[in-house]
Amino acid sequence: MATASAADLDALTAALLNTSGNVPLHNRFRALFTLKALKNDDAVRIISEGFKDESALLKHELAYCLGQIGLSSALPVLQSVLEDKQEDPMVRHEAAEAMGAISSAGSLPVLREHLNDPERSVRETCEIAIAKIEWDNSEEGRNHRASKPEDVEPVVYTSVDPAPATSGLLKGKPQPTDASPESISTLRANLLDTQLPLFERYRAMFALRNIGTPAAVDALADGFVDDSALFKHEIAFVFGQMLSPHSVPSLLRVLEDGSESDMVRHEAAEALGGIGTPEVLPHLKAWMARPDAPRVVRESCQVAIDMWEYENSDQFQYADGLGSAPTPSAVAS
Ligand SMILES: [Fe+2]
Ligand SMILES: [Fe+2]
Repeated sequence: MATASAADLDALTAALLNTSGNVPLHNRFRALFTLKALKNDDAVRIISEGFKDESALLKHELAYCLGQIGLSSALPVLQSVLEDKQEDPMVRHEAAEAMGAISSAGSLPVLREHLNDPERSVRETCEIAIAKIEWDNSEEGRNHRASKPEDVEPVVYTSVDPAPATSGLLKGKPQPTDASPESISTLRANLLDTQLPLFERYRAMFALRNIGTPAAVDALADGFVDDSALFKHEIAFVFGQMLSPHSVPSLLRVLEDGSESDMVRHEAAEALGGIGTPEVLPHLKAWMARPDAPRVVRESCQVAIDMWEYENSDQFQYADGLGSAPTPSAVAS
């Protein structure tokens, strides 16, 4: 865990909240990811102040980071974001997901209240977050927590996921699913089965992420025809964690599709920035400058270009989903 001096915290606050008025968005993101790495109440307090901002992109990332930090001190602000019907649905969705990540049974009533929310992505997120909190308290969830992390999940993925990967069982203990064609085809079938609860489909999604082969990428990409924007944005997010060049063609199709929802295109842009292969840069530059593109798509391309440049520099590379956005060295870890 990183530590920070009072002066570091002041500098991070000024950068995140853009107190000077001229901090570029990608530098605000860098400050945010440094705060996320602190994982303490100071970070929660500073990040919580950012919800007054105008940028939905920034605010949804604040909520995401509060969930990943995992402290219950973030629950009041997350609940107020979820309950604020004037707030952008992408931000409200991320607040609900963060409540699922923190996994307090005390969040269940407010999440249940929003199962009838007018915004589909908020309703669906609440459904998944409730299932996650209930699963965390189930026998399988308890067994999972009692296992060594490397026994159930590849160590490369340090994120708290909205649903645990589908796991096999060996002598009652959770095991990663294997990468055989049969296993991938079963997971693909579950991923695409719209009759299954979203939580189960997400479990298959994260199992395919953990398998990580080109065949698993293909199975995930098949999910981009779904009619749930939430579901599709999570596939793009997972591609941003996997960093497989094999996913680039499907992500570019999503980014370039003007009829696709902003939330999905945003996540595709950031995944492309993280993957950082040469052919994606002109697309990111083009969409950042397109006056007809939604703000969240333009801003995502701006952040993605910063990620692309970072991945293509000789600095240390991070691999943690959008957590892969670069972190400044202002704070010692
Ligand atoms: Fe999200
Ligand atoms: Fe996002």
